[in-house]
Amino acid sequence: AHNTFGIESVAKRFVEYFSEEELIKFIESNIQEKQNLFHIGGGSNLLFVSDYDGTILHSALKGIEVIDEDEQAVSVRVGAGEVWDEFVAYAVSRGWYGVENLSYIPGEVGASAVQNIGAYGVEAKDVIQYVETVDLYSGSKRVFTNAQCKYSYRKSVFKGEFKGMYAVTYVVFRLSKIFNPVLEYGNIRSCIPANTELTASVLRNTIIDIRKTKLPDPAIQGNAGSFFMNPVVTQAKFESLHKLYPNMPYYQLDSGDVKIPAGWMIEQCGWKGRRLIRAGVHDRQALVLVNLGGASGLDILRLCDAVRVSVNDKFGIEITPEVNIVGHLN
Ligand code: EPU
Repeated sequence: AHNTFGIESVAKRFVEYFSEEELIKFIESNIQEKQNLFHIGGGSNLLFVSDYDGTILHSALKGIEVIDEDEQAVSVRVGAGEVWDEFVAYAVSRGWYGVENLSYIPGEVGASAVQNIGAYGVEAKDVIQYVETVDLYSGSKRVFTNAQCKYSYRKSVFKGEFKGMYAVTYVVFRLSKIFNPVLEYGNIRSCIPANTELTASVLRNTIIDIRKTKLPDPAIQGNAGSFFMNPVVTQAKFESLHKLYPNMPYYQLDSGDVKIPAGWMIEQCGWKGRRLIRAGVHDRQALVLVNLGGASGLDILRLCDAVRVSVNDKFGIEITPEVNIVGHLN
């Protein structure tokens, strides 16, 4: 129940905490266990490939609190254990803008700051002001400003140099009171119902509809959203590929490099809708791997490897999982 892939995996111990004090007390009293602590959120970006020989930590820190406000914007402090989309729904209902494009992303608020979740032209980093954490080794509190989080596409210090070292306890978002819709991504504009006044709520519902048509519902079919990241290639590599595949979609980045949708490449390799044992490539979005029923983490990993090899053979591009692979392989 703690991973949306619906993979069977048993941890030695599962610990949920309801306050920062409780977390700190736990850290101070569990020195011998610290090597094997693993903090999860909603489990929507995890693939367990074995049982977990250690302690899984989960935050039940709740609350949405305004800590600063003026006529233009509001700073909102949100508990890491809040469900992300419930926060988005609340923000939209209060007239706080900036997260509406991130509607219906599964998972919890703490993970949004670790993963820098993103969709439809917006990333969590665009609205995160600072992140409150607790050091999992010393129990001391530490605040990371947005800059200190070193955000980039699906990356942060919490996934990089400080991986596994901090528990995010609260995330402070700076949201605007002025609605500035972001509509440049893909076909969003054309999906907004005609003759409708564009409000954040209309935009939220449009995005929910797009996601529902493309992405499988984990309650029905286990999955972790996009399994792979979209790779970034040099302009030269892009140009050579574009000559061969003039219909290849792409996003030009400010750096001069080019991002290519992995889902498109996986589809070109013929994987869309195909299965390997109990794991499959989703038939409406090839970036998503699904549990077809009773899959093990290793079944999914085998499919992941087969897809990676195909993409590399055809396009000469390495794609890497976005999903965190947890456990040991023997
Ligand atoms: N495409 C195909 N075939 C496919 C899938 C995609 O040809 O099977 C093409 C589409 O036609 C489009 C392009 O690839 O031209 C991009 O597709 P899409 O808009 O569906 O987005 P994506 O790049 O596949 C990313 C995020 C999603 C996010 C969407 C919308 C990553 C790893 N994934 O997917 O995030 O919802 O953009 O912003 O960046 C997630 O992280 O779990 C996730 C779902």
